[in-house]
Amino acid sequence: MSSNIQIELIQKSNIDNVDFNNLSFGSVFSDHMLVCDYVDGKWQSPTILPYAPIQLDPSAKIFHYGQSIFEGMKAYKDTDNNILLFRPLDNCKRLNKSAKRLVIPTFPEDVFMDGLKELLKIDSAWIPKNEGSSLYIRPFIFASGEGFHASPADEYKLIIATAPSGAYFSGKVKVLIEEKYARAANGGVGFAKAGGNYAAQFYPTQLAIEKGYNQVIWTDDNTHEYIEEAGAMNIFIRINDTLITSPTSDRILDGITRKSILQIAEDENIAIEVRKITVSEVVEAAKNRSLKEMFGAGTAAVISPIAGFGYQNTDYDLPELKSSYASLLKKRITDIQTNKAPDPYGWRVLV
Ligand code: PLP
Ligand code: COI
Repeated sequence: MSSNIQIELIQKSNIDNVDFNNLSFGSVFSDHMLVCDYVDGKWQSPTILPYAPIQLDPSAKIFHYGQSIFEGMKAYKDTDNNILLFRPLDNCKRLNKSAKRLVIPTFPEDVFMDGLKELLKIDSAWIPKNEGSSLYIRPFIFASGEGFHASPADEYKLIIATAPSGAYFSGKVKVLIEEKYARAANGGVGFAKAGGNYAAQFYPTQLAIEKGYNQVIWTDDNTHEYIEEAGAMNIFIRINDTLITSPTSDRILDGITRKSILQIAEDENIAIEVRKITVSEVVEAAKNRSLKEMFGAGTAAVISPIAGFGYQNTDYDLPELKSSYASLLKKRITDIQTNKAPDPYGWRVLV
């Protein structure tokens, strides 16, 4: 296949209906989407179309067997109106890693990058410029092929849709450390961005929300003794001056924000430990006040400080620090993303 992209432009833009000063996360969509079909054993040429509902057969396998994967990325604009992406090839590689695990055909990297760049140029006006906002990009692939037989589909659709977005969390983030349910298991699909991983989180997360928390911090499925990650972000824990995060595994998403933070923290001479961390160590540190910070890291969440956590019916509050690792690292990473600072790592990609 080639990345010869057919383009059909919208007749009248919807942009005037959007209040760019009051953006929530992922709830209004830009004018266009990129669509690419896998039929007859190969990916066809992509098309850029007006954003609109799509038609699927009721027997499409996505509905029955959940063959569906996605990515989350962001586009930014700098003061000269350059369009910027952050480590986009890493997202494409992870999409293909997820694809392999779900027996979805992998998508060619060059077509992904060319198509994404073309889409962003067409919908360039949709990329917010106000601080804290960006254009959230959602590439996804699902089984559009038909039939009730429980086996991989023979047809798939890749779509890239975008949404001008503000912060993922409004206000302070309180988390509940999970004691019963599990997000992922050894040998499972936890490392993949499979839609089903998120569906499986909704029920325990709903229980946590009813108790006043925003997210669940998942623990290992076997013993529930080790901290793993949160629903939409990797977790960092600062005890005294050391920043700790759990190693990635079969069960944990290899976050692009996580690995960027580890690199930046190292260059800031922050002591880092990538190791398993037990819930009891965190509780003990909270009790003896050596627990200074916890924060989540992810594309949507950026760096979201955690105000407190619940465990075994007890709430533990974290101190409010004047100069936190979270604020330092958030500034470093967002300055690189938005071209307010040099990018010594080569992470920023100009569209
Ligand atoms: N963990 C989960 C379960 C996620 O959904 C995300 C979001 O993508 C992350 C971690 C963070 O990954 P990234 O930094 O690549 O967005
Ligand atoms: C992201 O951070 O991009 C994600 O995919 C998390 C999502 C569940 C909103």
